[in-house]
Amino acid sequence: MAEQLLITATDKSGIYAQILPQIKSVVSAETDLIANMANVSAILKEAFGFWWVGFYIVKPSEAGEELVLGPFQGPLACTRIKKGRGVCGTAWEKGETIVVPDVEQFPGHIACSSLSRSEIVVPVFAPDRVVKAVLDIDSEHLATFDATDKEWLEKILDNLFTWN
Ligand code: SME
Repeated sequence: MAEQLLITATDKSGIYAQILPQIKSVVSAETDLIANMANVSAILKEAFGFWWVGFYIVKPSEAGEELVLGPFQGPLACTRIKKGRGVCGTAWEKGETIVVPDVEQFPGHIACSSLSRSEIVVPVFAPDRVVKAVLDIDSEHLATFDATDKEWLEKILDNLFTWN
C-alpha cells in the first residue's frame, strides 16, 4: 500500500480524480471496515483540508436503529443520530445525498460545532441498497459543496466497503 497520498491537481475534480484510485487501492488491501473508514476520512481530510470528515454507522439501538459515530477526522462530534434527524439522519432515511449550502437554512440541522457552515452527507449502501452508514463532510465556509462533490463522493463510496 502507498504510504503517501499523491496529489498534484489543484482543482476539485482533479483532486477527486487523483484520490479515487488511491482510496480504492487502500481499501481493497484491507477487509476491516473501521480501518478502511478511518483511512478514507484521513485521505479526504488531507486532500481538501475539510473541517470535519467522518462516518456515522447504522447500528441497532433501543429505538430500533440509529446512526453511531464512526471513524472521523476533526473536532469532537455528536455520537448518536436518530433516523430522519439532522442532515445525516435525513440522508439515511431518504437514501440520497444531501448538499447543504448553509446549515442555518436546513430545518433540524444538528450543530455539533458552531463553526460548521455548510455540509454534504452521502449514504453508504450495501449491495442490496440498504443504507449501512453515511459519510458526513462539514466546512467552516458557506456553500463549499456542490454537484461535483456529490458526483465524486458517490463514485468513491460506490461498492467501496465489504459488508458481512
Ligand atoms: N451536522 C450533522 C451532525 C453531524 S456533525 O456535524 C459532525 C447533521 O445535521 O446531521
